[in-house]
Amino acid sequence: MSAPFFVPMLTIHSGCKINLFLNVIRRRDDGFHELETLIQPLPLYDQLSFERSEVPGIRLRCSHAEVPTSSDNLIVRAVSRFYQELGEAAGIDVHLDKRLPVAAGVGGGSGNAAAALRAMNELHEHPLAAPDLLGLAAELGSDVPCFLHNGPSLATGRGELVESLSDFALLAEAAVVLINPGFGVPTPWAYQNLRLDEEGGRSGLSAGGLIEQLRSDDWDGFLAGLFNSLEQPVIKKFPVIRLIRDGLVAAGADAAMMSGSGATVFGLVRDRSLAAGVLERFLDGYGSQCWSQIVPMSGQPAASGE
Ligand code: C5P
Repeated sequence: MSAPFFVPMLTIHSGCKINLFLNVIRRRDDGFHELETLIQPLPLYDQLSFERSEVPGIRLRCSHAEVPTSSDNLIVRAVSRFYQELGEAAGIDVHLDKRLPVAAGVGGGSGNAAAALRAMNELHEHPLAAPDLLGLAAELGSDVPCFLHNGPSLATGRGELVESLSDFALLAEAAVVLINPGFGVPTPWAYQNLRLDEEGGRSGLSAGGLIEQLRSDDWDGFLAGLFNSLEQPVIKKFPVIRLIRDGLVAAGADAAMMSGSGATVFGLVRDRSLAAGVLERFLDGYGSQCWSQIVPMSGQPAASGE
């Protein structure tokens, strides 16, 4: 009798984020933009399963029809890049249970790429050290490295230079109400249409200033410092984003802002027990034709879309 073929399998969560501050500083010669962004991870997840196979190739299946499963997908690119680094032929089946909104400014795709790198490294018994993984992550996308860290982070450069921060006590009891209107915003389009010298293009504050307000438990100062350069071009083209932002504040959120390049908007609620009321009032006014979710800013993972 031949020995049974052992197939290692791994299932992991793949998270998302909001940008509490995203200040574009300047356009660079390489087509990217220099920025400073404060990233807050949220306990809301996609699920990814990996199964090693003797059949050559990378096969991705996804629960969501709109997510491409070809070589364009960041998961496929991450897995492919990983095998290339190892100098090995790929043989893997991947399943993505997509629960996060797609092309939504919450980093779902970037989170998937980082999760894929971590999972591949684990399945292969850690051939790559942390700096190697970070290098691969930065190649895959500006937002990917921040997902290799747990907790909040400050990202600079084009977003790939990541400094890990400790959790903010001020946000311990807070929650966000996430609203996605159901259309995606291509990130390159948002950057290309940003007018840095026009109103809303740049913040007078630095990310360090906002972090200081968070660390000194200055809730109002923190709210006043929230900023996202990319709201300017996106709101110009899609005024519904402003409507959602204003609607969340009218419904009782302490503040609201678009995340990343949109179109997801988050409403901040300092006391998470009030978040359900905010969402209910928002949906009463706006209608329920949107994706919505209440997410604590720390603590237990919440299954998304449920
Ligand atoms: O790095 P990533 O692949 O996510 O970037 C997608 C696109 O977004 C880039 O090709 C660029 O057009 C734009 N971008 C930018 N400046 C950044 C990050 C992204 O202009 N810091």
